Amino acid sequence: MSRRSVERLVVQSLCVETGRPLVRDVSFDIEPGTVFGLVGESGSGKTLTSRAILGLLPRGVTASGSVRLGDQELLNMPPRQLRTVRGARIAMIFQDPMSALNPLMRVGTAIAQVVQAHQDVGRRQARIRAVDLMERVGIRDAAQRARSYPHEFSGGMRQRIVIAMALASRPSLLLADEPTTALDVLVQAEILALIDGLRREEGMSVLLVSHDFAVVAGSSDVVGVMYAGQLVEQGAAADVLSRPRHPYTAGLLSSHPQGHARGTLAAIPGAPPDPGSLPSGCSFAPRCPRVQPDCLVAPIPMSSAHGSVTVRCLHPLESGLTVERSHG
Ligand SMILES: Nc1ncnc2c1ncn2[C@@H]1O[C@H](COP(=O)(O)OP(=O)(O)OP(=O)(O)O)[C@@H](O)[C@H]1O
Ligand SMILES: [Mg+2]
Repeated sequence: MSRRSVERLVVQSLCVETGRPLVRDVSFDIEPGTVFGLVGESGSGKTLTSRAILGLLPRGVTASGSVRLGDQELLNMPPRQLRTVRGARIAMIFQDPMSALNPLMRVGTAIAQVVQAHQDVGRRQARIRAVDLMERVGIRDAAQRARSYPHEFSGGMRQRIVIAMALASRPSLLLADEPTTALDVLVQAEILALIDGLRREEGMSVLLVSHDFAVVAGSSDVVGVMYAGQLVEQGAAADVLSRPRHPYTAGLLSSHPQGHARGTLAAIPGAPPDPGSLPSGCSFAPRCPRVQPDCLVAPIPMSSAHGSVTVRCLHPLESGLTVERSHG
């Protein structure tokens, strides 16, 4: 089996817009073999960020900045060349596994096709490899099940098949956008454990996108917290979780101290600003319990807080132990 290449992803000053800014000045690295968790409320720009990395933005939406995988710049790469990167070095899984599967094709055939597209093997070999991959992602009686159609599987099993398809190209980077949102809690934990095991054993990097801090907290080495199209805090997961500096991060975390509660981003009163009418200073200021006059003047830069953590806040929390909330 061919060894996957080990590549670092470096996203620098990524902006996505469609007349108005939707993602603003997003920068992060994903070291080989690590998981970067991107968390934020609905509409904060997580999906557009991951789609910009893949060069798969909707019509009329454009990206600028830099996205480097290994030594190659992906932004502005000719579409044909980008398609080969997308197939071979970056794989993706989305919230709805059904959308990634052809309902009329047996799952074993679907996986085998991906194998054949990326490895110089015949149909039989590809078939065998497909069954291997299904076993690998925890599908029992894989040889038998390879003959089934997508609708014959449960949601969790379908997501396993999509992961097997993603692995078939032996990617160095896996983009997982809300991979467990459609699944119940137990299955969600199984899928996250599976992704984590594959990450460790196969040495691939993962961009894990979720609106659920519990999902990101439990599975990421580094986390980035998005708000209104910007990263507002990022750093080693252990640091951010134990000592959040941005009032937004602290607010998210205070609603479930152990990081195990679900669906809690709504715990902060108010709503994110409309991308068409962003406040002139800090985007979070209208909801922030610590807001000061200087927060309202000019855009807030990212600055280093402690250890690996950077924060986009003029008045960050001194210690994560004193989490403040505005009310209720
Ligand atoms: N094709 C588009 N044209 C215009 N605006 C868009 C388009 N796609 C997304 N947006 C806007 O960009 C912003 C970010 O959207 P995005 O889908 O990245 O958010 P998200 O963080 O993934 O949210 P969710 O948790 O709901 O998936 C939102 O304000 C959204 O309305
Ligand atoms: Mg999304």
